[in-house]
Amino acid sequence: MSGGARTTLSVIKADIGSIAGHHKAHPDTLLAASRVLAEGKKKGIITDFYVTAVGDDIQLIMTHSKGPNSPQIHELAWDAFKEATKVAKELGLYAAGQDLLSDTFSGNVRGLGPGVAEMEFAERPSEPVAIFMADKTEPSAFNLPLYKIFADPFNTVGLVIDPRMHDGFVFTVLDLYEGKAVDLAVPGELYDLLALIGTTSRYVIKYIHRRDGEPAAVVSSERLNLIAGKYIGKDDPVMAVRLQSGFPALGEALEAFSFPHLVAGWMRGSHFGPLMPVGLKDAKMTRFDGPPRVLGLGFNIKEGRLIGPVDLFDDIAFDEARREASLVAEYMRRHGPFMPHRLGPDEMEYTTLPDVLKRLEGRFRPFDLGYKPVIKHEEL
Ligand code: F6R
Ligand code: MG
Ligand code: MG
Repeated sequence: MSGGARTTLSVIKADIGSIAGHHKAHPDTLLAASRVLAEGKKKGIITDFYVTAVGDDIQLIMTHSKGPNSPQIHELAWDAFKEATKVAKELGLYAAGQDLLSDTFSGNVRGLGPGVAEMEFAERPSEPVAIFMADKTEPSAFNLPLYKIFADPFNTVGLVIDPRMHDGFVFTVLDLYEGKAVDLAVPGELYDLLALIGTTSRYVIKYIHRRDGEPAAVVSSERLNLIAGKYIGKDDPVMAVRLQSGFPALGEALEAFSFPHLVAGWMRGSHFGPLMPVGLKDAKMTRFDGPPRVLGLGFNIKEGRLIGPVDLFDDIAFDEARREASLVAEYMRRHGPFMPHRLGPDEMEYTTLPDVLKRLEGRFRPFDLGYKPVIKHEEL
């Protein structure tokens, strides 16, 4: 399998401002970022790059030979976002610079605001990959599709009939509250995996490896509010998936997105809505700032060169998924400010509840419920 050149694929994203609200990145900001990366390519820091956007988030897709967490690569990405921010400020774009939590770069963009998904592998003679990028949601939005792609034989028949996939995959799951990671090998530990990743507010799939150690997928796991301690912006995630020849087929990876499952992060980061798969032309946010959308770009990587992209969801085969997403969006919207459209109080990014409770404090009077509640509401 290995033997080819070792290549690192780095996808680094940030929201540095957008036009007409949290709608769509401005082309001039993409150009500014591209100029910085072109300079980096000329200097030999990166081998190749592609800059794109979904909604108000810009993604820098880069290849190089420096491995994950390279200070040089992260600095290049930081500079690209800084330059894009300058343009955003000059144009008066909305929320210019919102995801750059620090003024100074300190060796690694992780913890400074941008989302990061990186993996290093020995290139196969043909190395197909798909990059998925979502807006108005959070990293755990990929938990369900990743489960389907790498653990569900009803989605990925390769798990059953491809001898190179039949041993299954190892999922690395993060506990975002505690800063811990656990590796779970499926199919053996499938139920333990689901017990964790179904709790999308806390557990996020970070890496997937094949049993022989080959990296298969990586997700950005940064959560801005857990970094900054308050609501700054949504943690719109990116992920990279290796495809074919012992990995899921492209079509198996895409199949997982034909179900527009409910994800958190719509409007004010405080609502559940369906994840709608879209092509580049629809990678913008409109209805109720959404609905949450996912863009998929396919590439081949050859000696570090990014061949492509192809716009994977720009196809009639996903029209029904989009229609279903629209129907579900309508159904969810009719709940207005009620749960379960609105997130629970702990997960909302915007809330006036503490203020309301404070104001009403003196007006709450004792009431005989007929029993003595034994669970305090913080424990619920
Ligand atoms: C931002 C987002 C939006 C905003 C909303 C309010 O990515 O998801 O839904 O939360 O547009 O934005 P502000 O508070 O900036 O007016
Ligand atoms: Mg935004
Ligand atoms: Mg966004």
